[in-house]
Amino acid sequence: MAEPRRTRVPLIADVDTGIDDSLALLYLMASPEAELLAITCTAGNVAARQVAKNNLAWLELCDYADVEVALGAEVPIVQPLVTTEETHGPQGIGYAELPEPTRPLSSRHATEVWIDNARRRPGEITGLITGPLTNLALAVKLEPELPLLLKRIVIMGGAFNHPGNTRPTTEWNIAVDPDAAKIVFDAFSVVPEDRRPVVCALDVTERIVMTPAHIAELAEVAGSTPAEVVSPDDEPGTRSTASNPVVRHLSDAVRFYMEFHRAYDQGGFIAHMHDPFAAAVALDPSLATTRAATVDLELAGTLTRGQTVADWRGMWGRGPNADIVVDTDPDEFFRRTIERVGALARSIA
Ligand code: RIB
Ligand code: CA
Repeated sequence: MAEPRRTRVPLIADVDTGIDDSLALLYLMASPEAELLAITCTAGNVAARQVAKNNLAWLELCDYADVEVALGAEVPIVQPLVTTEETHGPQGIGYAELPEPTRPLSSRHATEVWIDNARRRPGEITGLITGPLTNLALAVKLEPELPLLLKRIVIMGGAFNHPGNTRPTTEWNIAVDPDAAKIVFDAFSVVPEDRRPVVCALDVTERIVMTPAHIAELAEVAGSTPAEVVSPDDEPGTRSTASNPVVRHLSDAVRFYMEFHRAYDQGGFIAHMHDPFAAAVALDPSLATTRAATVDLELAGTLTRGQTVADWRGMWGRGPNADIVVDTDPDEFFRRTIERVGALARSIA
């Protein structure tokens, strides 16, 4: 895999921080090419206000430039909110206990942040969405031109030729708000083919398998001591003693996620790092091999509501509205993550 491109990427991230959302934010903060314009918060893994607090806390821990953090939708567009503390922990960051943030939330709503930035910099901004699509759906309702004002969006969500992780055919981000997903995929059907939404679905993100060895390597790059050993034999809830604060809190967060994956038979004592993969693709699309398809949402199915359906062969007679990621190099993703986030951690030791 060639060295990553380093062209500057103006970006808005909409997240439901969450453990893997946390690593996605660290990846963005660790990437000099990322021009992080704003972080918007949606309910999903945990309540939106907890998501916002987590985002502010990670930004302050990393002493990152003042980035606008704005609260968005606290409930899905139609169905009631369902959260998943069993997956991400009561605060959404596993066992991590981040220092209380001191900076306030933006006074603007997430939709205003998206629309205002896109109008100010038409065609320049990449949108990264690693949670339910509620905020983006509300924003395109307020500003129908938004799909054409943004350069591109990268979505972590959906499952195509792959089992769901929430119900048999549904992936969490979409399952939380399938109506929002339908609005977004329909709205972005108008963009030119070189600017179609890039969709990082479970088909590829469940190949992004973080192991304790990855955490140990990252801690070593960070110069943290002692060696960071997250063992499947540890007592559940064991806390990190890493000298480096980013390593310590990230390790505590990811350990919870690894215990969840093992307990729910999702591959053992590992962690699927869905969101940081999408963040890496947002910064460097060459990391992903994609295939165009027409994506639509099943909203009426008794068993399948929230299923993302891909028409790969034009059977519906509608043009493609998405570039679905069908392949990547997970080792290259982890090489970049360890190198970047390890360096970020070292810089704030
Ligand atoms: O299905 C995985 C997705 O759902 C990830 O974004 C994770 O953070 C959860 O939001
Ligand atoms: Ca997420």
